[in-house]
Amino acid sequence: MGSNILITGAAGYIGGSLVADFLAGNSPLIKKDQIHAVVRSDEQAQALSKLGVHVLQLDLTDEDAVVESLLRHNISIVVHTASSLDVSLALPLVAALGRQREVSGEDTYFIHTSGLSAFYERTGWPSGPMKDSGPVFKTERQFTDSYPLRKTDVTVIEHAKDRGVTSFIVVPSTVYGKGSGAWNQLSVILPIYIKGCISNKSVHKFPENAKVSGVHVSDLTALYTKIIEKVLQKETLPSGTEGYYFALAHDILWWDILDPLAEALHARGLVTESKAQIWPNVETAAESLGIPVPYVQILWNSEANLVTENTYKLGWKPQWNTERFLQHLDDEIEAVQELGTAKSSLVASLSQST
Ligand SMILES: NC(=O)c1ccc[n+]([C@@H]2O[C@H](COP(=O)([O-])OP(=O)(O)OC[C@H]3O[C@@H](n4cnc5c(N)ncnc54)[C@H](OP(=O)(O)O)[C@@H]3O)[C@@H](O)[C@H]2O)c1
Repeated sequence: MGSNILITGAAGYIGGSLVADFLAGNSPLIKKDQIHAVVRSDEQAQALSKLGVHVLQLDLTDEDAVVESLLRHNISIVVHTASSLDVSLALPLVAALGRQREVSGEDTYFIHTSGLSAFYERTGWPSGPMKDSGPVFKTERQFTDSYPLRKTDVTVIEHAKDRGVTSFIVVPSTVYGKGSGAWNQLSVILPIYIKGCISNKSVHKFPENAKVSGVHVSDLTALYTKIIEKVLQKETLPSGTEGYYFALAHDILWWDILDPLAEALHARGLVTESKAQIWPNVETAAESLGIPVPYVQILWNSEANLVTENTYKLGWKPQWNTERFLQHLDDEIEAVQELGTAKSSLVASLSQST
């Protein structure tokens, strides 16, 4: 298969890091010339063009432009990292892959990026453990109207099926580590929290001490790469309603992050106390972090009871665990100080939805 690969959100944290991985030649099966990257602005297009990838300057909501562009560049695999939430970005890509399949007679593949919050009890997901090899689609469908991220997953899978496109849903947990892309290199959850702590000169935590699942950005990009490699090798792997891949590398309790974070920020003279305090209420937390009240507890005080099997069956071997993450906590602070505020589509879309 002479597959060309398109990465959306290529100026973003996850998409940018994936492009950088491919350019670094981390996969022997994926050639630089196959890589196509979607960005929006002229500056981003220039930055990525300099790296030698094919750059497509597109607004993904423009279906005619998306279909024309994907057909012109003979794209058969799309890795969509531009938005987990906004389905109007995903559907034109799925439609384009459907057309490409008709025109080329070859299979086409859509790898969507979802998010852990779709699987929190706080957003209406049922309690109890769920494997990515279990009835995830059926359950997302059952609870589709109560949380927009679930609705997007379900809509993507159903549209892909209707158009004969093979779909996969990658669910990143809390992604950390400095990105390696050409543009945004900051993640969301930890950078926003660290930024808030620095602005308030104190570290606060929620009283419940929720468990959080994490994955280093390099392990996450390795997972997307594994899926693409299997596709290129024409291996059969779970897809469509069965095609969920939970990118969970390790678990940690929030207090086990925030207590050492308070010490590390204090050692740098960035907060006044070396111990984390308890938030007085959710409103204060929301105001301090600059996040709408309904989402503060979803993002920083929720647990997912998920188990990954599909990723390990692919041969995914994360290189980062809890211990390594904690040893490098200082790097997270350094990245925030170096790069400033995270510019994430997640925060923008949450603000729009309230
Ligand atoms: N980072 C995490 O921890 C994490 C965890 C789970 C899920 N996710 C989800 O994964 C997705 C990617 O995350 P990220 O951290 O990489 O986000 P990001 O850094 O904000 O990257 C998203 C990119 O998508 C681009 N984009 C947005 N709308 C577009 C449109 N209409 N047309 C073309 N490009 C568009 C943005 O372009 P501009 O630069 O022009 O704005 C941006 O470069 C997000 O939806 C996020 O919610 C992230």
